[in-house]
Amino acid sequence: MRKIAICNQKGGVAKTTSAINIASYLALKGKKTLLIDLDPQANATSGVGVDKRTIQHSIYNVLHEHINIEQAIRDTEIEYLSVIPSNINLTGAEVELVNVMGREYRLKKALNEMKVPFDYVIIDCPPSLGLLTINGLTATDSIIIPIQCEYYALEGLAQLMNTVKLIRDNLNDRLQVEGVLLTMADQRTKLTKEVIGEVQKFFGNKVYKTIIPRTIKLTEAPGFGKPIPLYDPTSLGAKKYEDVTNEILGIYSESKNEETTEDTGKTEEQHGKEVGERA
Ligand SMILES: Nc1ncnc2c1ncn2[C@@H]1O[C@H](COP(=O)(O)OP(=O)(O)OP(=O)(O)O)[C@@H](O)[C@H]1O
Ligand SMILES: [Mg+2]
Repeated sequence: MRKIAICNQKGGVAKTTSAINIASYLALKGKKTLLIDLDPQANATSGVGVDKRTIQHSIYNVLHEHINIEQAIRDTEIEYLSVIPSNINLTGAEVELVNVMGREYRLKKALNEMKVPFDYVIIDCPPSLGLLTINGLTATDSIIIPIQCEYYALEGLAQLMNTVKLIRDNLNDRLQVEGVLLTMADQRTKLTKEVIGEVQKFFGNKVYKTIIPRTIKLTEAPGFGKPIPLYDPTSLGAKKYEDVTNEILGIYSESKNEETTEDTGKTEEQHGKEVGERA
């Protein structure tokens, strides 16, 4: 079982969008995948179509009340994709766990005790470096850091890397940076090009070759409770999340690399038209 946390304490950088869609493509490629929503905002939960009002057991009950983790696992519309939902109760967990022994290890322990086998566990972290994220970082093998192609993209990354080092030294010596994912890119702008350059300088070959463009379809999909492969499988956003999932799986060809560069500046409409023409 390979565990990957999607983590960046900065808000709105596409952690949840990436968690949902990478988990979905892993599942569609036949990998049994568990998406864990570790954010009280519960956007990953609703993003895979789970109605928050129908949740009986959430990650809160797993972390706080030690319920059996299996009780919280829910099926989704995608056959091999399951989810452990979150809800607003989780807001209290940061405070409620403060005086609890082994509070940083709650998620790790629950996953160790899990009897249902999964190939992949994808953990969507909240935008903070508090106890919930620490639980995620302690439980995981590696992290993917999404970075939005915007002003101040690198802001806070030194702090994140410092936290990763602290966790590695004290709580989880296996913790690795799996990769860095550039998101919401508009390849036509100078700013995006600058950010890509800066991030590549900072993280070197950890940066995925696939860059996620800013597209309307990716914004719309969560509103319908659907991952992008169900909402619009031929969209550019869908293709890019499939590509990065292939990179994670170690399936990556040079031709795809060229294609990524070629795609620069293509709009969703252009891409849709081309896909339509090919079909
Ligand atoms: N490639 C994209 N193109 C367009 N919109 C996007 C893209 N990726 C994410 N978004 C939108 O940007 C917003 C923030 O994305 P998301 O919720 O995934 O970020 P996050 O890092 O999980 O946020 P938070 O820190 O609040 O948890 C959402 O409205 C999402 O739909
Ligand atoms: Mg989020």
